Amino acid sequence: MADSTDTKSSNQMWGGRFASGPDAIMEEINASIGFDKKLFAQDIRGSIAHATMLAHQGIISAEDKDKIVRGLNTILSEIESGNFEFSRKLEDIHMNVEARLATLIGPAAGRLHTARSRNDQVALDFRLWVKEELQKTERMLTDLIAAFLDRAEEHAETVMPGFTHLQTAQPVTFGHHCMAYVEMFGRDRSRVRHAIEHLDESPIGSAALAGTGYPIDRHMTAKALGFREPTRNSIDTVSDRDFAIEFLALAAICSMHLSRLAEEIVIWSTPQFGFVRLSDAFSTGSSIMPQKKNPDAAELVRAKTGRINGSLIALLTIMKGLPLAYSKDMQEDKEQVFDAAESLELAIAAMTGMVRDLTINTARMKAAAGSGYSTATDLADWLVREAGLPFRDAHHVTGRAVALAESKGCDLAELPLADLQAINAAITDKVYDVLTVEASVASRKSFGGTAPSEVRKQIAYWRARN
Ligand code: ARG
Repeated sequence: MADSTDTKSSNQMWGGRFASGPDAIMEEINASIGFDKKLFAQDIRGSIAHATMLAHQGIISAEDKDKIVRGLNTILSEIESGNFEFSRKLEDIHMNVEARLATLIGPAAGRLHTARSRNDQVALDFRLWVKEELQKTERMLTDLIAAFLDRAEEHAETVMPGFTHLQTAQPVTFGHHCMAYVEMFGRDRSRVRHAIEHLDESPIGSAALAGTGYPIDRHMTAKALGFREPTRNSIDTVSDRDFAIEFLALAAICSMHLSRLAEEIVIWSTPQFGFVRLSDAFSTGSSIMPQKKNPDAAELVRAKTGRINGSLIALLTIMKGLPLAYSKDMQEDKEQVFDAAESLELAIAAMTGMVRDLTINTARMKAAAGSGYSTATDLADWLVREAGLPFRDAHHVTGRAVALAESKGCDLAELPLADLQAINAAITDKVYDVLTVEASVASRKSFGGTAPSEVRKQIAYWRARN
């Protein structure tokens, strides 16, 4: 238990020029420990790398370094086991750890903060945290993509209506529809990878904003902390939160994609559509209506988008107009990122589960695929190909056939040949071959098209990259 830290306040850490302690409101508005304690592991890792470098460069003694490292490891296990008392008087995670270190090892603790500032320290801790979160997001997206690839393979031939304006457009395969999401989440994953590349520079050693006069080795700390290289400009380093904004931006885009999928699941699982049935694991019942199975998980995924977008706008607004370099405004970055990260993780995990568990009603999909004159384009294309009509004329002829079928209350394929020939004499009974939904999808073999053969090529492409 940290016993003496709570009697210390952050004033005592810089107290030289302060006569009295902070007002209670000052303490409340200033403290970030309530949320930045999440950074404890990164803070301690950063401090160990920093102390090791200071000793290597002869800036502190090897004995002091050893004491510091041992003390920091003790603090790490205290926090991990829940035996650490965080103090709001000590403001933030950096000073909570440092004050406890002083209690544990005495004056040597005071040497840790040589050649650094909380400005580069927080930039480091937060970057490390965001980097780990991005790596986790990358793995989760890979799982989600894998779930879709499995469903796409299973349903490469399953026919469903394709929609534009949510009106039946042309038959497509469910496998093709799944692969559309693979493309979206694949782009999300490459945004994650780019974000990792962008932030992979170590801030530590930028100190308050101007660098330091001590002979530090920033390449050494960068390497020890798993960064590609150190940042190149100390002023930019302590004032930059692009890495957090990039995380929020990619999270917002990804969650927008998730919300579209969520919306489709909500629509498809209604009795009116009946395309899919949610598993019990990802739905809830109603307390009053026994027949109901509600898509709560999908609805909540849809709603998380609002929260994540809010976080992105919040941080963009916090950073807008801030003069270089560090300003305390920037302390408000963390809650936005923590909240968005939690929401995104939950949303991806819930979606991965739902996609794997969904029962696909292939009969309902097929029946719907054939309704709404979905093969009208196929009739027009047949007239172009087989009867030599210009497409515009074929479109007109087909429109008349659709109007006739509509007035008779039947599908295009159910119109007698005589009726079709009355509209255009060139039509033969061969036309019926293209009016089925299976023939329609099989014909669309253009690169990226919906034909099962093409969908299998898309699946193979992604399997090799997932
Ligand atoms: N808690 C602060 C933050 O999150 C750490 C940096 C404080 N730096 C300072 N100069 N007051 O931004």
